[in-house]
Amino acid sequence: MHFDLIVVGSGIAGLSTALAAAPRRVALITRGELARDGASRWAQGGIAAALGPGDSPAVHASDTLAAGNGLNDAAAVEVLTRGAAEAVEWLSANGAAFDRNAQGFLLGREAAHSQHRIVHANGDATGAAVMQALAVTGRTAAHLQIFEQHAVVALRRAGERICGVVAQGAQDFVELDAAAVVLATGGIGALYRHTTNPEAADASGLALALEAGAALSDMEFVQFHPTALRTRDGRSGQLPLLTEALRGAGAVLLNGAGKRFMRLHAREAELAPRDVVARGVWAELERGETVWLDASTAVGADFPQRFPTVFAACMAEGLDPRREAIPVVPAQHYHMGGVRVDAAAQSSVPGLYAVGEVACSGVHGANRLASNSLLEGLVFGRALGRRLAAQLPPAATVAATVATAPPADDCAQVSAAISQAVRDLLWREVGLVRDASGLRQALAALDTLARSAGTLAERRRIAVAVQITAAALHRHNSVGAHYRRDAVQARAG
Ligand code: SIN
Repeated sequence: MHFDLIVVGSGIAGLSTALAAAPRRVALITRGELARDGASRWAQGGIAAALGPGDSPAVHASDTLAAGNGLNDAAAVEVLTRGAAEAVEWLSANGAAFDRNAQGFLLGREAAHSQHRIVHANGDATGAAVMQALAVTGRTAAHLQIFEQHAVVALRRAGERICGVVAQGAQDFVELDAAAVVLATGGIGALYRHTTNPEAADASGLALALEAGAALSDMEFVQFHPTALRTRDGRSGQLPLLTEALRGAGAVLLNGAGKRFMRLHAREAELAPRDVVARGVWAELERGETVWLDASTAVGADFPQRFPTVFAACMAEGLDPRREAIPVVPAQHYHMGGVRVDAAAQSSVPGLYAVGEVACSGVHGANRLASNSLLEGLVFGRALGRRLAAQLPPAATVAATVATAPPADDCAQVSAAISQAVRDLLWREVGLVRDASGLRQALAALDTLARSAGTLAERRRIAVAVQITAAALHRHNSVGAHYRRDAVQARAG
C-alpha cells in the first residue's frame, strides 16, 4: 500500500501530525485503539500556555529553560512557547472542553512555573478530554487511513532512505510505503519498575530508530514524577499519577512522623522543580520512612470536583483523600532523551522523522517543565504535518528497494521474565540516584540478559536500556533529572 506519509503512534503528537498533513494521504498506525493506547490520554495536569495577565511566551520560555538547567535548545523553546496559545485555541475548536470561568480559561499552577498558566479540562482529566476530541476529529478525517491493533515491527528502506514500515496485525503483516515515516511512539515507562506510563510506552519506536542507524541524544535524562500512588499490592508497572496540580493547590508532602520535609531540600519546598522533589521523596524512602501527600486541608471536600481522576484512583485503593493523606512513591514519568531531530523534526536518517516524547529536539533540556509535554506534541506535531504536506513528493514515486527480512510471528512479544528483569535493573541502578559502579553493573547484567533474549522485541528493549545506561555512565556530573551520587561526593570531597 502506498501513502504520502506514515505516522506511527496515535497520541497527541501522532494525531496532531497526521491531522495537519491534510490533504495528503496519511496512514496512521496504532497498536491499540485510536488515541487510547499511549500516555497522552493519561495526562492530568494540562497544557502550559502563557494566557494569563502578566504572563508571556518569553516568561514561559524562561521557566522552561530554568527547569531544563539551560541544556535546552533555546530556538525550540521559543517555538514551543510562542505556539502555545494558538495550539490551545485549535484544540478548543476541535472540541476539547477546557475548564473556563467568565474571564476565559481557568489557569492552574504547577511546580517551577512562575505563573498560573496550566489549561486543564474536567479538573485533572485533561489528557482524556483532549484525546477524545482528537479521536473524533481523526475518525472523520477523509485523508487518514487508520490501522488500529497494528504494531510496527520493521522499517522499510529505499537505499539509505526510510520509505515505509512492516506492521503486524491480529491476522497478518502489512507492508506500507510512503515518502516519509514519522515516529510518534512515546516514551520508555515499560523499562522501569514504577512508572506513570501505560504499558505501550515500551521504547519500541526508539528501538526501530536505533536499528535504522539514527542518532539518539540525551538518553540519560529520564524524569521521575515525585508522586505516584503507592498501591497496597506493591505492583510493578503503571501506578496512578497524583498530579502536580495538587501541590500547586497547596497539598504538602509529609514523612512518617507527619512532618513536612521538602524545605530541607529546596526553598520552594513542594513546588521545587520535579527532579528536586522526586529526590526529596526518594531520600525519605531510602531512610525507611513512608511518604504521604496530604491534600485534606488544601483541597478537602472539593476533591471529587477538582481532581476526579485522582479521587477515583484513591477510592479504588480504599483511601479517601478528602480526609486522609495518600501514600506516595516516585515513578518514571517522561523521557527527555530520544531520537535526535533537527528543527524540522528530521532524524539523522533520511525519510525518518520523530515527534513528541520519542524525539529529542532539545526542547526540554535536562528536565521537562510540567505540562510542556502535551504542548510539545501539539506544537511540533502540527508544524511537522504542515511542513511535510507542503514538501513531500507524491506517494507513487516511493517504494522499498531493500528487502525486509520476514518477521517471526512472535517478534513483538516480550516475556514477563525479561520485562521484569529490565524494570528492576533500571529502577535500581539507572533510577533517581546513580553511580558509576551501579551503572557498570547494570551494563554487565544487560549484556547477560541480551544473551537470553529470544525475540526481536526483547533484544530491542534491552538495546534501548543499554543506551540509557551507557549515556548515564558517560555523563559524570549531576544535572537536571540525571543525578550522580558519585559526582556529588567527588565535589564534597
Ligand atoms: C502532572 O499532572 O503532575 C504531570 C504533568 C506533566 O507531566 O506535565
